[in-house]
Formats: sequence, structure tokens, C-alpha cells
Amino acid sequence: MANRLINKTLFIEKALIDGQWVTAQSQERFDVFNPSNGEKLATLPEMDIEDVTLATKAAASALSSWKTTPGKTRGQIIRKWANLMNENGADLATLMTLENGKPYAEAKGEITFAAGYLEFYSGEAERCYGEIVPSSNSSNRVFAIKQPIGVVACLAPWNFPAAMITRKAGAAIAAGCTTVVKPAGETPLTALAIAFLGEQAGLPKGILNIVTAMRKLETVGKALCEDKIVKKLSFTGSTPVGKLLMAQCASSLKKLSMELGGNSPFIIFEDSDLDQAVDILMSAKIRNSGQTCVCANRIYVQRSIHDIIAAKLVEKFKNLKIGDGFLEGVTVGPLTSKRGVQKAARHVQEAISSGAKLLHGGNVIPGHGNFFEPAVLTSMNPTMLSHREEIFAPVAALYPFDTEEDVIEMANNSEVGLGSYVCTKDGARQWRVAEQLEAGMVGINTGVLSGGEIPFGGLKQSGFGLEGGKWGVEEYLVTRAVIMAVPDV
Ligand code: SIN
Repeated sequence: MANRLINKTLFIEKALIDGQWVTAQSQERFDVFNPSNGEKLATLPEMDIEDVTLATKAAASALSSWKTTPGKTRGQIIRKWANLMNENGADLATLMTLENGKPYAEAKGEITFAAGYLEFYSGEAERCYGEIVPSSNSSNRVFAIKQPIGVVACLAPWNFPAAMITRKAGAAIAAGCTTVVKPAGETPLTALAIAFLGEQAGLPKGILNIVTAMRKLETVGKALCEDKIVKKLSFTGSTPVGKLLMAQCASSLKKLSMELGGNSPFIIFEDSDLDQAVDILMSAKIRNSGQTCVCANRIYVQRSIHDIIAAKLVEKFKNLKIGDGFLEGVTVGPLTSKRGVQKAARHVQEAISSGAKLLHGGNVIPGHGNFFEPAVLTSMNPTMLSHREEIFAPVAALYPFDTEEDVIEMANNSEVGLGSYVCTKDGARQWRVAEQLEAGMVGINTGVLSGGEIPFGGLKQSGFGLEGGKWGVEEYLVTRAVIMAVPDV
């Protein structure tokens, strides 16, 4: 596998604890597979509680010097780390396409996106300002100071093997915290290569520890939740798992950031530029083969333009090229897991048997890879499974609507609220709808909701806590009060 890389040292089959590349104490290992063809890519340490303990202890002993390192110095290291990621973008993207399946061009885009978090946070490292508060007592002066919260655990998902690592750990490290990161078992190779570049950039030992696990994922997660050394846990994943982790964190009363499931409404009003709306929809639906928490899930189209949009969408779907992410022109890679393929097929079948029309695709593609033919469904209604649950696959499900009022009610009729999208040329409507949608992010005539500077996070059962921008760093700080008695003035 290493021979596919320009810089072969980026292929790493060990975990990182206290600046050392290590195996699991038990010497157990797990395999990582290519979702495009089922081939084994690597074997990684299957870590357990004792490895987590070593990692959190390493993070704890690195804390005192890192939190007192000037923000400017921390920022310089983080900026160098971002630069190294960009310089090694081709290799990082190769690792990502191999383990996650996303098309190579998209994987390269994710590296730029991921490095963008480090670039932004590198500046924020210098700006962890406190405040001077006017006191109600004239003999006192009151200061609100910001300090790093301490050791942070980051549990990252498989759908963005690079960006979710830098979005979490980059912010924590910029704030002066030290980290233990657990990448997803399906996609640890990108994370390990990024950690290696972090070391090259000058991160001292113990600041960024990476523990790997697949079969023992739950044990490792629970150990991090229950470890009293860890003061904050940041998780991206499903709502049920988020709730479980919250319960496990209760005994140590950790601060939490929970970026949980979405079910994004995508609303197209009849006054939109229809071609532009379809292009935006494609970007919000097909990104990472439909496997993002903010992919358009419930596509609401005003009745007067419904059939036109459906027809335009089918034409776009016909032009999608499905295949191995390294093949020229491929726009939809394999889904990362077989589970994802089964779920997509279940959603399509349930919709059809409940009265939906399948206009395009919808088949599982036979073979060793996890390929699913992108699908377009119309005549959907809110009783169907896909209205309640995220599809997490390249399946576009269209629901007709009549009025602005109706569509806002339908869009908000969800337990979760992460992403949302509105296409309309009417300026007043843009604000009206954006302000009423119950979602953490609203894209108006755009399919892009995230970036280094953007606050990303959910409402309702999509969780809490923000990632990105100054808010992302703020999550890893505690505000403390210093009250100083002064002589009478
Ligand atoms: C996610 O799917 O969790 C993140 C998506 C994004 O940042 O755009």
C-alpha cells in the first residue's frame, strides 16, 4: 500500500501515544479494507482500556507546558501543520480514497477543507481573550479570564477522515488543550498520517495522541467517557450513540460537544433559478456519495415546478459516474460500509412500497465493492422512512409542497435540526424562511454549510456545541472570574 504514496512514511500501521508510534498493549490488531473492492489495506492496533489510560496520562503530563505555551507559538505550529497537510495533499487524499472510497478529487478537496480548520484556528490561538467586567462594587475589579479546559477526547467519524480530526483536535490544541483522538475504525490511516505531519510541524509529544480500535470501539469510547483525566469530549456521529456517550460521561461530569444526526430539508421555491437550484441540490446531495450529516435528505419542491426539477435532476443523475474513486471522472464512489448499502436499499424499497415513484437508479451494484446506484424518488410523503431518518446515501427523495407556510411546517417536523437549504430569489423570503427553519445552519442559494470560519452545530436532537470559527475554539476554553479588591478610588 505504501508504494501508492509519494511520501511512504505517511503509511502508518501504529497508534500514537506520548510521541511514540506504538502497538496495542495486548498486541491485538484489526484490518482496514478498501470499500471499493473489499481488499485489505492495513492492520492497526486494536486498543483497549489500558491503552486509553496510557494516552490520557500522556495528554495530562503534556498539558502544563502546552497550556502555558504562548498562543502565538501554538498558532505557528498549527499553521505549519496546515501547510504540511496541503503539501502532502496528494498522499493524504490517496489514503482517504483507499479507506473511505470518496472520489480522489473530492478527497483532495477534503484535505484543503481540513487544513482550512487548522489555518483558521492557528490565528485564533492568539485570540483567546478574556474580558474586564464593570463591577457592581466600586471597591472591586472583575476579570473574566479564559483558560484551556484540559485533556480533551475527540471521537471522529468515518465520513470525513481528515476534516473531522482537524476540526476537533485543531481547535482544542489551539486553545491550549491536549488531546486523545479516536478515528473511526474504518478510516484510521488518514488520521495517523495527519498526526505524523503534526509531529513534523513541531507538536510536542503528548499533545496529540491517537488511539485506534474497531472491534473494541465501544470499550475504548466508554473508557474515554469515564476517564476522570478527560475534561471534555467531542463526538460526531449518530444521535443514539451520542446519548449513550452522554450517559457514560455523566459520572465524570464532562463538558460535551455533540454533533449528531441530521435530516436536512432542501426547499426549492418556484421563484428560484431552477438550473442553479438543481446544481446546488446536486452538491448538497452527492457530496461524499450522500454520506454527510448535512446532505439534502428531504427535498421539498413547490408543486408548480416539481416535475421540471425532477426531470432536470434525473438528467444530472444519469451523468453521474459511479466507480472506484481513483478512476478518471468518477463522481460517486462506493459507500464506506456494506451497512450503508443495505440501508439505502431499505429506504428505496420502503418508499416504493408506500407509493413513491422511482425515476432513476436505486439498485445495489453486485460485486465486492459497496456500490449503490444513485436514485431519484418522487411522490414522497412525510409518513415514509426517509422523512424521519437520514438516508446517508445518494438517494434524492422529492416531496411536493404548495405554500411557504406548509413547507416550513413540514421542514420543522423533525426531531433533529442540523443543516437546511433554501433556494429562492425573493430577498424577503430568504430571511423569513431562514429565521424560521429549526436548524443550526441554513444555506440560502448555496449547498456549502461548513468551513474553517463557519459555526457548525445542531439544534434539537442534532446535538449541541459548535465547531469551526472562533466558536469552535471557545468550546475548549473555560471562563473563570478573578475578582480583585482595589483601594478606594
Ligand atoms: C458531517 O457530515 O458530520 C460534517 C459535514 C460538513 O462539515 O459539511
